[in-house]
Amino acid sequence: MKPKVVLAYSGGLDTSVAIRWLAEDRGYDVVALTVDVGNEKDLRTIHERALQTGAVKALVKDARDDFIHYFVFPALAAGAIYQGVYPLATALARPLIAKLLVDLAREEGATAVAHGCTGKGNDQVRFDVSVQALAPDLEIIAPVREWAWSRDEEIEYAEAHNVPIPATKASPYSTDENLWGRSIEAGVLEDPWAEPPEDVFEWTAPPAARPAEPEYVEIGFVEGTPLTLDGEGLRGVEMVTRLNKLAGVHGIGRIDHLEDRLVGIKSREIYEAPAAVTLLAAHKGIEHMTLSRPQLALKEKIAQEYADLIYNGLWFSAHHQDIASYVRSTQRHVTGSVRLRLHQGQATVVGRKSDSGLYDYSLATYDRGDTYDQGAAIGFIKVFGLAAQVQARKQLLRQPEGPLEIAHPAPEETK
Ligand code: ARG
Repeated sequence: MKPKVVLAYSGGLDTSVAIRWLAEDRGYDVVALTVDVGNEKDLRTIHERALQTGAVKALVKDARDDFIHYFVFPALAAGAIYQGVYPLATALARPLIAKLLVDLAREEGATAVAHGCTGKGNDQVRFDVSVQALAPDLEIIAPVREWAWSRDEEIEYAEAHNVPIPATKASPYSTDENLWGRSIEAGVLEDPWAEPPEDVFEWTAPPAARPAEPEYVEIGFVEGTPLTLDGEGLRGVEMVTRLNKLAGVHGIGRIDHLEDRLVGIKSREIYEAPAAVTLLAAHKGIEHMTLSRPQLALKEKIAQEYADLIYNGLWFSAHHQDIASYVRSTQRHVTGSVRLRLHQGQATVVGRKSDSGLYDYSLATYDRGDTYDQGAAIGFIKVFGLAAQVQARKQLLRQPEGPLEIAHPAPEETK
């Protein structure tokens, strides 16, 4: 009996050639698993292509609900954004796909799993680290990383071995997409000075085609999770799908990132993430209404740690569990509604309300009805500024009564 391998199959050239190579060169029975995280349009064709290419079995799994529920919305609640711009769409999907590979490997009695990543990117790290954590006994095979073939060499192999070459329109770019966003690399984008041509974008309208008039949406959150859009209760997948369309029409969510990969390469990446950018802005809007200043400040730091951890493929780790617990705890009063204006590439929070909000009109107002005690500010400031006052007197003033320099040290003393 031949050993079995479960391959993460996208239907593209790389993983199609991988099926044949795993079967012929490595002697495996190949089970192809295609995971739908909101990316796949023609799942039937992909399924058939896997079998035609030589897989003994081909499965398609709709993982969109799990993707949103266990990966996307927790990352949204955390405010996880890599290097300040990338909402982590690809990075969030990889551990889920790895988990499904492992589950199927167990079911099928496979001894190995395989994926189509190259040896230059982050995705290989995310798959390998996840599989190693979940099932250390499984062998991991990355055919594309092993070959390190050029595109032409790969096509030669495909032709020599009768691998049906997917008839996708020739794109100069390398792309990946799921519900949380779309990424585009390579081609002319490898020149970081070159402005992205319009043809890299598929989800977001070009400036000239965007509506002249703004559009308003209201998003309702319950404990940090978006549950309603303009008052209508929506499942996560539907919420994200609709916002990708609504915000995409206004050109929202275009990101041009010179990114630091985990493997040490700086790389030029373009993203389209209309729903992610809109929801992250909305979520921040409701948090500023419902969290205290120190909560917001610590959350900001945790968000960066969380983003790095997701980016670096460490989803299945104790560190992640700890951070996720903290984030969940912070969200227990993050309930309310945010109104956003979608217009000309921008999603702007223009209103927020919450029954558990910390905003108190009677404290904030400059109008009649002010309940704030201005006199109390005097004593507070005296105590608050005391240490600074003592230090200024003892260390900063030239003479006890003399003037304090504006810059420290004064500019001429630095020479
Ligand atoms: N640079 C992004 C990331 O590391 C996107 C990667 C896209 N992956 C791909 N195979 N095209 O998350």
